[in-house]
Order: sequence, then C-alpha cells, then structure tokens
Amino acid sequence: MIEPVYNFSAGPCTLPHSVLEEVQAELLNFEGSGTSLIEVSHRGALYEPLHHEAREMALKVWNVPDEFDVLFIQGGATGQFAFVPLNLLNTKNQAAYVNSGHWASGAYKDAAQVGKVYQAWSGEQERFMRMPNSDEIKLQDNTRYIHITPNETISGVRYAQFPDLGIPLVADMSSEMIAREIPWDLFDIVYGGAQKNLGPSGVAIVFIRKSILQNSNQSLPRYLRYDLHQEKQSLFNTPPTFAIWVMGKVLRWVDERGGVQGMQAAANERSSLLYHCIDNSGGFYRCPAALENRSTMNIVFNLPTPELEQSFHEQAAEKGMPYLRGHRSVGGIRASIYNAMPLQGVQKLVSYMQDFAKKMG
Ligand SMILES: Cc1ncc(COP(=O)(O)O)c(C=O)c1O
Repeated sequence: MIEPVYNFSAGPCTLPHSVLEEVQAELLNFEGSGTSLIEVSHRGALYEPLHHEAREMALKVWNVPDEFDVLFIQGGATGQFAFVPLNLLNTKNQAAYVNSGHWASGAYKDAAQVGKVYQAWSGEQERFMRMPNSDEIKLQDNTRYIHITPNETISGVRYAQFPDLGIPLVADMSSEMIAREIPWDLFDIVYGGAQKNLGPSGVAIVFIRKSILQNSNQSLPRYLRYDLHQEKQSLFNTPPTFAIWVMGKVLRWVDERGGVQGMQAAANERSSLLYHCIDNSGGFYRCPAALENRSTMNIVFNLPTPELEQSFHEQAAEKGMPYLRGHRSVGGIRASIYNAMPLQGVQKLVSYMQDFAKKMG
C-alpha cells in the first residue's frame, strides 16, 4: 500500500480529496453536455449558475451580513494591495498600515505608490513575532481605513482579537479565509487569495461593504474599479472559470462541515495538537511566535541546529510529508494546516516529531 502524502505547503496547498475526485470525474463531460466546463463561455447556461452559487456560498459559509457583497477578481491578494488604495484613497484622506510582517509590508509598499499612507505600528524590531494591541496602533487625522494582515503566513502570528479603533478595517486574510469567525461590523473590506483555504490559485475573493462603493474611485481603468465588479457580479470580463468552479465545490464542502464555525473548531483542534507537541518536547522544538499570537494555520518552529532541521526535512519527506520547509526568508519548519488538512495528517506529523525528538534529541 502506498503511504498517503500529506501536503503542508503554504499555498497553493492541500484541497479536499473528494473535491479533486469530483473535478476529475466531471472534467471531460460536464453534466452530460459532452464538453468540459473550462471550454465553454462564461456567459452560458453551463457556467453562470455555478458562478452565482459560488458567490452565494462564500457569503453563506462565512456568515457575511447583507451589507456586504463578494467579488471574484484576478491578480491574487497582491492585486488587492493595489486595488484597495486605488479605490479608497483620494487627495483628502490617508490610510494607516499595520506592519506585522512580510505580507503587511508588501501591502504598505504598494499603497505608498498610490496614495498617502503611514505605518501605524511596526513589529520589525521584534522580528515580527507578535501582533500589536489596539492601544499600540497610532492613528493620524483623516484616516480612511486601517490595513491589517490578521494572519502572517511566514512568521506564523495572528491577531487574537481584531483592533477596534473606530476606523474601518481592511484585512488581507489570505491565510485565514473562512477559517475563523470575524466581527463584520469592524470591516469595510476583507480580501485574500483563494489558493490556501478555498481552491486553486487564480482568484482573489473580496468581501466589500456595499455602501462604500458610492464613494469609490470611478476614474480608474475599468478592471480596477470595485464598483464595476460589484455591478456586474464579477462577470465584468472573463473570470477564471476553472478556479471559481473548484472553489464553489470547496465552499460546498465547507458548508457541509458546519461553515466557518466548523472550520474554526477543526483548526483549533489541529493546531492545539501541534503546539502541544512543541511545548512538551523539553525545548527540542521551539515556536518563536508570541504565545497569545500563535497562528492556527501556519505553525512555525525551529530545532536546536540547522543540521537537525535539514535531517528533519529529509526524513519527513521520506515519510510522505515533503512540504514542511519554512519560508526562504526565515528557514526552519512551517506546517501549514489549512481547512482541507485532515486531522490524520497532523496526527502523523506529531507522531513523526515525537519519534524524531526521541531519536535525535
Ligand atoms: C497573507 C498573505 N498575503 C498575500 C499573499 C500573496 O498572495 P498572492 O500570491 O495571491 O498574491 C500571501 C501569499 O502567501 C499571503 O500569505
């Protein structure tokens, strides 16, 4: 029997096996049409119902209130680093960016090309190992929004609580999409790439407060305008139909497992197992993230030496766990355990970690 491979990659990453099987079964002949869904028009009777079902499911499974709509836009989360300031900033306002790590600083750099922005907090001196408390975020006048990155995928830190400072939040939730419940009242926009929790790469999902569209920038090239994407229900031009098709299936899979509450409970169970193993290893494994900010999606840790880390990777790969390397900028180990990671995958990793520590510690 071939051992299953558990994919701990940070994204693109593991998808529900049942969804991949469905895609395989339907790929050549969609619903008896004799064609594949990915070779037909995005404005035809085969594709359009799926498109709208995916939109409705996205709103349903994350308990998104009626004041919001959902948009599917190409360009990933990085595209949204530009979309957000292009649509929301003007000559009279500015935006606060919380610099909590690699991705937050990317969002800040891009926004600075477009409008007036400032860093309201930076974790750089502490090597991005924690998130700020609300009272550490320093705001200036005429701040249109506060941009946050609720989960930093590389350093493995997340906000335990969202800042509530009376100014709307805009959040890059790429690595926590539909993985934790959120207080929607605090947000104007929540965006992220699909390729971690929700499907293949190729699409960003943007939850946007509808009332802000009246004042969004309408003198942009058309593809960059949020209001047009909303008016056309994300069919302004040809959308990434394959990515949306598969994402719709993943969203249905999420719905069948209790929506965001189900995903959050499973994430807590998986991450607790791993942190318990780290904390009970007698210091062999060390997690650098602040205790209260430990991510439930990206579990980052180190071993006593780089040589041991190298052996850890080599032996894990032989055992069917090949994608555990930390991001190239920080090294170490990173286990990304997004929504579709089965509990058995984490149990197998924990058992491997315990054996490895016994043997090499
Ligand atoms: C928090 C966060 N933001 C942004 C990105 C970049 O996403 P994309 O490749 O979809 O542009 C990533 C990718 O890993 C991420 O983790």
